[in-house]
Amino acid sequence: MTLLVLVLRALHVVGGVLWAGSAIFYFLFIEPAVKGAGPAGPKVMQNLLARRYPLFMNVVSGLTVVAGLWLFWIVSGGLNMGWITSGPGVGFTLGSVVALVVYAIGFFMLRPRADRMGQLGAAIGQAGGQPTPDQAAEMHRLNEEMASIGRIDAILLTISLLAMATARYWVF
Ligand code: HEM
Repeated sequence: MTLLVLVLRALHVVGGVLWAGSAIFYFLFIEPAVKGAGPAGPKVMQNLLARRYPLFMNVVSGLTVVAGLWLFWIVSGGLNMGWITSGPGVGFTLGSVVALVVYAIGFFMLRPRADRMGQLGAAIGQAGGQPTPDQAAEMHRLNEEMASIGRIDAILLTISLLAMATARYWVF
């Protein structure tokens, strides 16, 4: 059991660092840099998507959630209400629920938009690299939507991270 917890904690914390770190980095630096690059912005975005950034995010978030839920089961003694309503229990539960909301946002809102951006970028590339006005407008709309969703994601992941990092010491 100790070895299992050790492995789960390693996967969970490393996954969480990569997930939250990347989401915050995207929101604070990548997205503004893409916007600041003007007409070259969509190309940079296209490149990021081609490097499987969405797949990377799917893997690290999935790993964090699966290992986290498993740890939750073990640490709570099989969802024991005494632990769940204790200080640490409330902290870990809050952090978990917020992280699950972020995961759902990523799966249902970010993933389809990233897929569409990839398709659109490929179509533009095949047509010689110059987008039609419709394609440019759709690309712009997708960028704006990704930026807004990315902001919510980064804020929620920071809340989850703070709860997770301190829950052990919540006393009430
Ligand atoms: C569904 C999502 C999540 C669940 C169910 C979950 C559950 C848990 C549980 C039960 C623990 C305690 C493990 C133990 O004491 O052995 C834990 C620890 C931890 N989690 Fe999560 N977690 C989730 C998401 C996250 C995310 C998104 C992050 C980072 C942003 C994160 C970062 C951490 C850290 C740093 C610890 C270590 C805390 C400590 O040792 O005091 N977790 N998590």
